[in-house]
Amino acid sequence: MSTLALSQLGRRTTEPPVSWLMSTALARPNLISLAAGFTDSESLPVDEARELLLEVLGSAKTGRAALQYGTTAGDAGLRRLTGEHLHRQDGASRPAALYSPERLFISSGSQQLLYLLSECLCEPGDLVLLEDPTYFVYLGIVQSHGLACRGIPLAVDGIDLAHLERTLESLKRSGALRRLKLLYLVTYFQNPTGVSAVWEKKATALELLRRYEKAAGHPIYLLEDAAYRELRFAGDDVPSLLIARRAADRVIYAGTFSKPFATGVRVGYGVVPEALLRVVLRLKANHDFGTSNLLQQLMKRALATGAYDRHLRVLRERYARKAAVMVRAIRQHFPARVEWDEPRGGLYVWARLPNHLKSGMKSRLFRAALRHDVLYVPGELCYAPDPTRPKPNQEMRISFGGASVPDIRTGIARLGATLRELLAA
Ligand SMILES: Cc1ncc(COP(=O)(O)O)c(C=O)c1O
Repeated sequence: MSTLALSQLGRRTTEPPVSWLMSTALARPNLISLAAGFTDSESLPVDEARELLLEVLGSAKTGRAALQYGTTAGDAGLRRLTGEHLHRQDGASRPAALYSPERLFISSGSQQLLYLLSECLCEPGDLVLLEDPTYFVYLGIVQSHGLACRGIPLAVDGIDLAHLERTLESLKRSGALRRLKLLYLVTYFQNPTGVSAVWEKKATALELLRRYEKAAGHPIYLLEDAAYRELRFAGDDVPSLLIARRAADRVIYAGTFSKPFATGVRVGYGVVPEALLRVVLRLKANHDFGTSNLLQQLMKRALATGAYDRHLRVLRERYARKAAVMVRAIRQHFPARVEWDEPRGGLYVWARLPNHLKSGMKSRLFRAALRHDVLYVPGELCYAPDPTRPKPNQEMRISFGGASVPDIRTGIARLGATLRELLAA
C-alpha cells in the first residue's frame, strides 16, 4: 500500500533540484552562495514600508478596509495605479485603454500568474515553447502539469526566430501544433542569462504564432514575463508587447513588485486578454479569492506617494554597483576562455565554459566549487526537458543580487580559482 494517496499532479510535483542548493547554502555558513535568486537585503525598504503601513493603519477607516477581505481581481486603486505605471514605462503616447484596470489583476507574486495560466490553458500532454535556457521555477509548473516543452535558443537579443519558425513548422507537420498553448518569454534581463529581447524579435515572434493558429485550431498566447524590467541600470527600456499590433487578445504580461520593491510583499500583477482574464479570476478565486489586501494597500501607497519610484532609483544604483563589483572580479579571476556578458540590469551573469568543462550538479567543477565554499546555479537546471536536443551542461548562473559586496569579491575569487584548477587538470 502506498503511504500517500496522491493525485497525478501531486505525484508529478517532485522536489526541485534548487531546493538542494538552498538547503546546502543554509547548512554551510562559510559557503558563499552566488546561486540564490534573492534580492539585495540591505536595501529592502524597511523604513518606507513602516511609514506606509502606519499610514494605512493610521485611521480606523483605512485600517479596517485594509484588514478586511478584498476582491479577487485586487484593489481597484492599486490596479489603476499599476496600469498607469505600466503605461508610463511603455510611453505616454500609447492608448490608455491598453492599461485599463479592467484588463489587469493583482496576483500573489507574478509566480501565481504563471501557475494560474498553466492551470487555465493546459492539460497534461499540452505543449509550451520557452527560451533555451529559461526561468527554472517555471519548469516546476510545467512538470507539475505534465506539459511537454520545446526550447527555442536564446541569442544576445532574444530568441532565435528562425528556430521558432522551424519548430512551429515541424509541430504543424507532426500534428502536435494542436497541443501548443503558449510561448513563454522572459524579455528583460532574463533569468538566468541577463539577456533582454529587442522589440523586433518580440513582435515578430507574436506574428509567427498568429500565422500558425489556423493549423493549431485555437489561439496561441505569448506570455511576456517582465519580472526584471525595472531593474535596469544601463541602456533604454524597450516597450512591452502590449503595444504590438493585434496583441490585445494574445499577449499576457506578467509584472511584479517583488524585484523593484520587496520580494517579501509578494504582490504581482498581470495584464490578460479580457475573455481569458474572466477564467483566470475564477481560478484565482479557488486559490485565494484575492491577494493579501493589507499588502496591496501598502503597494498602493508606495505608488501613490512616490515612495516606490524613489526606492527604485536607490535600488538601480545599488545593483549597478554590485554588478560592477562582480564584473571587475570576474575580469580579475576568471580564465579568459570563460565567456560572459556584462549585465545592464537584473541580477545575473551567465558564464559559458570552454568546450570540455561540464558545470552540472554531478560535475567535477560543481564538486570542486563546493570544496572551495562557493555555489552557483548549474546551467543544466535552466533547460526544459525537450526531447529534440540534449540538455546543455556547460554554463552557470551567478547572481550579484543577494550576496554582499565582500562576498561577491570573495565568491568570484573562489569560483575563478576552481575554474583555473579544473581547466589546468
Ligand atoms: C523570471 C521570473 N519570473 C517570475 C518570478 C516570480 O517572482 P514573484 O512571484 O516574486 O513576482 C521570478 C522570481 O525570481 C523570476 O525570476
